[in-house]
Amino acid sequence: MAAPTFANLTVLTHPLIQHKITLLRDKRTTTRDFKQLVNEIAMLMAYEVTKDLPLEPVEIDTPLERTEGHQVAGKKLTLVPILRAGLGMVEGIAQLIPSARVGHIGLYRDHDTLAPVDYYFKIPSGEHDRDFFLLDPMLATGGSAVAAVTALKRAGAQRIRFLCLVSAPEGIRRMLDTHPEVPVYTAALDRALNDKGYILPGLGDAGDRLFGTR
Ligand code: PRP
Ligand code: URA
Repeated sequence: MAAPTFANLTVLTHPLIQHKITLLRDKRTTTRDFKQLVNEIAMLMAYEVTKDLPLEPVEIDTPLERTEGHQVAGKKLTLVPILRAGLGMVEGIAQLIPSARVGHIGLYRDHDTLAPVDYYFKIPSGEHDRDFFLLDPMLATGGSAVAAVTALKRAGAQRIRFLCLVSAPEGIRRMLDTHPEVPVYTAALDRALNDKGYILPGLGDAGDRLFGTR
């Protein structure tokens, strides 16, 4: 059956991303390799996701003469990982965008209700003028992503993009129904959720696999 399509969802089909996602799904992948792969995929995704960032002209001197170049316009980009698993995506993107600021949103999913429980929120000031990249490897029911975007908006953020590695149609639907103007980028749109809210085929518990807590 063909995967559903959604407005404002981009599935990043670059061969290197797909290759690395397959390694990530494999249950034999060690914590060390899992961490490395999450960073590499996040970096490749960031390359795609930033391709429409506005530029502004800038004058510079080469060793030979003055010339006009271009720089990314506006305030520093801000990466906002959703704790814990989103932390795994920060380093890879920061290697591409070393000047990026980093905020943090602490959320975990209650095991019984699957509802997000929030415990931390800190982002850099100047919220109105910043581009926020919200990071979480997994978009399952969508509860965590929706809550994180709501919290960012409440703090004044106006330009938010959501990057995840693996997502389920149910979560994408919920996210785009609640926050239709927030572009969602995913490396894989999977089949469904199981009765415990895990993505199928998925990759298991991203936080546990990333930090070796199981
Ligand atoms: C995982 C994942 C997302 C959330 C996705 O985090 O990293 O934040 O679940 O599920 P949802 O779309 O149904 O909300 P988890 O709650 O396991 O917390 P952790 O990262 O601290 O392990
Ligand atoms: N959180 C995860 O880490 N994995 C899933 O499949 C669903 C939620």
